[in-house]
Amino acid sequence: MIEAPLDLTPRSNADFWAGQLEAEVLPTGTLRRTGGGHITELPGFAEGAWWVQDVAATLPVRLLGDIAGKRVADLCAAPGGKTMQLCAAGAQVTAVDISGRRMERLGENLARAGLSAELVTADASKWTAAKMFDAILLDAPCTGTGTLRRHPDIAWLKDEEDVGRLTLTQDRLLLRAVDLLKPGGTLIYAVCSLQEDEGPARVHGLLARDRRLHRVSVLPAELPGLAEAITPNGDVRTFPSMWPERGGMDGFYIARLKL
Ligand SMILES: C[S@@+](CC[C@H](N)C(=O)[O-])C[C@H]1O[C@@H](n2cnc3c(N)ncnc32)[C@H](O)[C@@H]1O
Repeated sequence: MIEAPLDLTPRSNADFWAGQLEAEVLPTGTLRRTGGGHITELPGFAEGAWWVQDVAATLPVRLLGDIAGKRVADLCAAPGGKTMQLCAAGAQVTAVDISGRRMERLGENLARAGLSAELVTADASKWTAAKMFDAILLDAPCTGTGTLRRHPDIAWLKDEEDVGRLTLTQDRLLLRAVDLLKPGGTLIYAVCSLQEDEGPARVHGLLARDRRLHRVSVLPAELPGLAEAITPNGDVRTFPSMWPERGGMDGFYIARLKL
């Protein structure tokens, strides 16, 4: 197995921080460092100028386009890599997660970067909001089989039973996400799993049950250098084998739907 490189998402000034960190700027804006070193000792860590996030994990928020000033809910938010992206892009963010401990970490991460969001510790499948959202990001809990190179233990810890249990949770969260969306709003569904059941099958089922929703295909121009990740349906599927000359990426499935 190839060791995963260290990917960092800059809050801004990608070229400046690439120089400071001796990192390559990937076509989608992620800074990739191949040298070692302790994360907390790297320049810019203390002031939250960047955060650790695999290049593939940055794509779900990227697919929301211009979200400056929009009301966005991040329904499975902790530890907050994607919440930080949403805030840095100027959205008005509500971050929800079921885990109090993980939410605490999210709060610390936001504070270090000088970013802010409304933080809610709750089961997102039961949570209600006073006002609907322009956009929802559902980065659902999953088996994580797309991140095996970073977490090889997943191969032993997760089995078919986990997939069955998780798909039920994913469906419940998707249903609630749709309820929280304004008419015309955008829903991004993402999982860092390579399992068909956790990705395309969940979206296929949702679209079949709720005819108000439709898929908004991802266009090559939205994913510089990564057009190969766009499926015939217009969803995104990344694999650890993509960008092999640069060190690969995590496996993700992402779909963009509109109400
Ligand atoms: C894939 S992780 C999210 C990663 C995060 N979006 C990021 O970019 O850092 C999934 C998260 O879902 C949370 N979760 C699981 N079930 C949930 C539920 N029913 N409601 C809200 N959050 C839930 C977990 O606590 C976990 O933090």
